[in-house]
Amino acid sequence: MVRKINHIAIAVKDVEASAKLFKMLLETDPGHTETLPAERVKVSFFKLGDTKIELVEGIGSENPTAKFIEKRGEGIHHICLEVEDLPAALSRLDAAGFPLIDKVPKTGAGGTRVAFLHPKGCNGVLVELVEQSRKE
Ligand code: CO
Repeated sequence: MVRKINHIAIAVKDVEASAKLFKMLLETDPGHTETLPAERVKVSFFKLGDTKIELVEGIGSENPTAKFIEKRGEGIHHICLEVEDLPAALSRLDAAGFPLIDKVPKTGAGGTRVAFLHPKGCNGVLVELVEQSRKE
């Protein structure tokens, strides 16, 4: 079951500079900037009520985020839906014909379990799923 929008992510060229901008916009401080080497990104989250905004900057050469920005410019990159049981959600979506980028969960920001669906199956929107147990 999809419970809510966990976060909306924005692709940016410079996460530190954008964090200053979004701090003014949202009137709240971002959490610490986290580097995910396997994903070749640097991310920063702003908690906003029951959801979050993620700023994501690609690092290193040939990273998908930089390619995204090259093609489409900075802007909304993905939406992240929160599910209780990620493997169950992935098998349901796979059976329903959604093209999965990640067939098995991988480690995302903050040590969470995440997986991405291909935008070609979601009207051009890159969708991330994150597993969050009910207690959190
Ligand atoms: Co995300």
